[in-house]
Amino acid sequence: MQARYFAIRDYPRGMPPRELFELHSQTLPELGEDEVRIRNTWLSVDPYMRGRMSGMRTYIAPFELDAPLEGAAIGEVIESRHSRFKSGDKVRHMAGWRDIAQLKGDVLEPLPDMEVPEQAYLGVLGMPGMTAWTGLNRIANLREGDNVLVSAASGAVGSLAVQLAKATGGTVVGIAGAADKLEWLEEHDIRAVSYRNKDARQLSADLEEACPEGFDVYFENVGGACLEAALNRLKVGARIAVCGFISRYNDEAQQQGPGNLSNLLIKRARMQGFIVFDHWTEYPHFLEEVGPRVAQGEIDYEETIEEGLERTPDAFLKLFEGANRGKMLVRL
Ligand SMILES: NC(=O)c1ccc[n+]([C@@H]2O[C@H](COP(=O)([O-])OP(=O)(O)OC[C@H]3O[C@@H](n4cnc5c(N)ncnc54)[C@H](OP(=O)(O)O)[C@@H]3O)[C@@H](O)[C@H]2O)c1
Repeated sequence: MQARYFAIRDYPRGMPPRELFELHSQTLPELGEDEVRIRNTWLSVDPYMRGRMSGMRTYIAPFELDAPLEGAAIGEVIESRHSRFKSGDKVRHMAGWRDIAQLKGDVLEPLPDMEVPEQAYLGVLGMPGMTAWTGLNRIANLREGDNVLVSAASGAVGSLAVQLAKATGGTVVGIAGAADKLEWLEEHDIRAVSYRNKDARQLSADLEEACPEGFDVYFENVGGACLEAALNRLKVGARIAVCGFISRYNDEAQQQGPGNLSNLLIKRARMQGFIVFDHWTEYPHFLEEVGPRVAQGEIDYEETIEEGLERTPDAFLKLFEGANRGKMLVRL
């Protein structure tokens, strides 16, 4: 059987060019013992993949050049030599960026049985959703009545973070780019602030207007001016969950950090980074808590879908242009 996959031939500096991504074809070997063959139906593209294209080890190894790229995917088993899986089973795994995956059965996760579309397990009930829940509950120690600020607030992580924060009763403010994203936030009773064409001083002033008392929690997805503005608007004892710095992922040289870090001292605030995979043993707990609320429509989630394997690099690059609302996905 033939399989197609994307690979990169170089580690890019700055914004990766579209030509970096090459589509290859290979003939798959016969299934080995305990192996499973899967026809992928949905692929996830995520900002962290940019770090794996840097050529350096971060908390995870870089992608290998000219080898199939990796990422979360959902698919259907089409052939199995593993006792736990049979044809027709739906599974989640990390062999994305390709149409057919062939893997040892023990790295596959059967999809949970909930009344949600299967691709929800790549978004609101997958790694991004788990990230929102972990950042708020385990890193920022969200409490009743907290005022919460979230950047990249209409994205996969941010859109769940604002809704979970809203349920605790304080003022929730979301920072986002395009007008339709700000509207989506306002429809969900979240105060929306645009960061476009603003420096940190202007953004601070807009955050003050949106929530004059300041924030107990900042859920950081972006860095740069958003972080600097947020540091100006902390309440005493504030907690910052550092989830991501997407505005910096394509920087060619290291940039200077915000000049107002002294606010951490003045406000006796805590700032802590986290990687969701360190908390994965809590995934069943997250599913049990958030899954039914998604299934019942109490939590809203959006998807931006690109069609066909060929569009996978385009979907990935669009994350850095803010072209997605909610989870960015590729449907095969
Ligand atoms: N720590 C962890 O374990 C973990 C796990 C998952 C994700 N993350 C991080 O969480 C963040 C969000 O990830 P996601 O999967 O939910 O992505 P996402 O928010 O769905 O997509 C990325 C969004 O970031 C915004 N953005 C892109 N470039 C920007 C820039 N230069 N300045 C400001 N905003 C920019 C865009 O929204 P706008 O239109 O609003 O600009 C874009 O839609 C990322 O930083 C990611 O690396 C961390």
